[in-house]
Amino acid sequence: MAPKTPRLEIKSLVKSYQGRRVVDDVSLAVQPGQVTCLLGPSGCGKSTTLRMIAGIEMQDRGEIWADGKLLCDTVHRIPPEGRGIGLMFQDFALFPHLSVAQNVAFGLRGPRGVLRQQAEAQLEKVGMLAYADNYPHELSGGEQQRVALARALAPKPSIMLMDEPFSGLDNRLRDGIRDETLDLLKEAGAAVLLVTHEPAEAMRMADEIALMRDGKIVQRGAPYNVYNAPADKEAAAFFSDINVIRGTVRNALTETAFGQFLAPGTPDGTELDIVIRPQHLKIDFDRDGRGPNPTAQDGTPARGVVERARFMGSESLVEFRMDYDGSVLKAAVPSVFLPKPGTALWLMIRRDRCFVFPHRS
Ligand SMILES: Nc1ncnc2c1ncn2[C@@H]1O[C@H](COP(=O)(O)OP(=O)(O)OP(=O)(O)O)[C@@H](O)[C@H]1O
Ligand SMILES: [Mg+2]
Repeated sequence: MAPKTPRLEIKSLVKSYQGRRVVDDVSLAVQPGQVTCLLGPSGCGKSTTLRMIAGIEMQDRGEIWADGKLLCDTVHRIPPEGRGIGLMFQDFALFPHLSVAQNVAFGLRGPRGVLRQQAEAQLEKVGMLAYADNYPHELSGGEQQRVALARALAPKPSIMLMDEPFSGLDNRLRDGIRDETLDLLKEAGAAVLLVTHEPAEAMRMADEIALMRDGKIVQRGAPYNVYNAPADKEAAAFFSDINVIRGTVRNALTETAFGQFLAPGTPDGTELDIVIRPQHLKIDFDRDGRGPNPTAQDGTPARGVVERARFMGSESLVEFRMDYDGSVLKAAVPSVFLPKPGTALWLMIRRDRCFVFPHRS
């Protein structure tokens, strides 16, 4: 079967400011009805990437395609208004002299009565119909954001670029508006490229996550895969707290306080980082200075003393000072369990949940 033509495709985009590459060879494809989340820390180049796709910023190199049609390379350039792309940006601005309904109808063409109807239908979807005749300065920040969202959705764009579009909304509102907005866009077959720096948000919404760092995409994949098979230690750390256990390879394995880890094909002397999320540590009681027996699944237990334990609602986060080298490890445990500081306990790590990477300093 021939591969489907992506609704949106970018190829090797490069952008530098004052000689510094802030977007460095970024390629992505988004299929109709798909949501791709561009996820990464502040300053990694997410908004710049979106601005180039929108046509507000010109790339130094690379190409932008929509449905197999070239929108922009370094020679040809379709202006922003000719790209059929919907935008919802971080620094969205409503027109202050237009009412809410007029703002939403701004990009639409047709008889006035029809425009009003379409604007009202969009406003209803974001829960802002009651404000149709208000002016932007009469709205709170979150309300303005919802109007901007309605305005972006109204022309039913086939490609939607969204830059932290839900960040100004409180949690309760956000979940509803976010799910509904994305459902609408997906149903309409739009390709959505959505920027966020919140991993939980990306995992909840994305068909695909593109993890970005220092201008580059370091990993792409379904949320499940990116979370469970991170490309490196930093990618793992982006989604949760992590613990790192260091080890050195001798004879294709490394000895740690938690037992041996196989390192087939790794040269002697290689330093390894064994990475494990707090959720995947197990805790057991101290039995007069002894811990539970080693198992194949969880390796050898190591003893530590509780330094801090925080109740977090659905779980407790417990920090241990480990006997073997004085390092600190964090374990997330069901919140019914909240051990007192000073308690000695034994930790085991779920071996199938460990990620092993060569240590990079
Ligand atoms: N017009 C500009 N001139 C010079 N530098 C710029 C310009 N726009 C962005 N930058 C720089 O490029 C880098 C990437 O910026 P960008 O806005 O793409 O980051 P971001 O990933 O969207 O971050 P955030 O999550 O904070 O919004 C930053 O270091 C920023 O300071
Ligand atoms: Mg940004």
